[in-house]
Amino acid sequence: MEIIICPDAAAASLSTADQLASLLHTKPGAVLGLATGGTPLALYAELISKFQKHQVDFSQASSFNLDEYIGLEPGHPASYQHFMEENLFRHINMPVGNTHIPDGLAADVPAHCEAYELAIRNAGGIDLQILGIGTDGHIGFNEPTSSLASRTRIKTLTERTRSDNARFFSSMDDVPHHVITMGIGTIMESRAISLLAFGESKASAIANMVEGAVTASVPASILQMHPTVRVFLDEAAASKLERRDYYHHVFAQKPHWQKW
Ligand code: PGA
Repeated sequence: MEIIICPDAAAASLSTADQLASLLHTKPGAVLGLATGGTPLALYAELISKFQKHQVDFSQASSFNLDEYIGLEPGHPASYQHFMEENLFRHINMPVGNTHIPDGLAADVPAHCEAYELAIRNAGGIDLQILGIGTDGHIGFNEPTSSLASRTRIKTLTERTRSDNARFFSSMDDVPHHVITMGIGTIMESRAISLLAFGESKASAIANMVEGAVTASVPASILQMHPTVRVFLDEAAASKLERRDYYHHVFAQKPHWQKW
């Protein structure tokens, strides 16, 4: 795990956007794993800005989103379909048919989840997965005690996650209980992963993920077992890491050829 502590969320988002743009430069048909929530908003704004400046081209790229709420009508302002349209897709040139988000209105959820897994495989697998992290250590919507080998499936949200996400809905009662999420096993098959976390509210989850034991109680801790994970943090999200000084030191001493 490479821990990159940036001065602020804007700097971290810019570094992640640079990494993604560089991937698309070397592999124009790259398969991107995308996330929603508050965390990737600045990253998506950076990508849109790069696209407008002709610094990145999505015309051959494709994407798979991590998750979606079950039961929200199409166009519901809190649906992840709507989020992605508004915050990224309608501003860039990725062909609509190349973007994939789990269908929260699927009549047969298990069959849809199996088809989603197959679509990822048929696309050649995810080259770079963008992740946020929940305050409870979830990745995607894989809540604590999710199987570390899980595949795309239905999950029931914890009340903590429903409460964390209530800000996107009119009231807590409107937050769905169920979601479809890529599994932890699915996420772990991505060739590279970049996780972003900002703010004090994420500091405990980050410390547990990076320096704690690998446990289903902190789903993100499984990333310790992945060979190519970059963790982009601001100072607040890094504030509970015991080895913070070491991570700064590693980054400062990084050989030039290792930079992306
Ligand atoms: P957030 O959510 O980006 O809105 O903080 C992160 C997550 O739940 O994975």
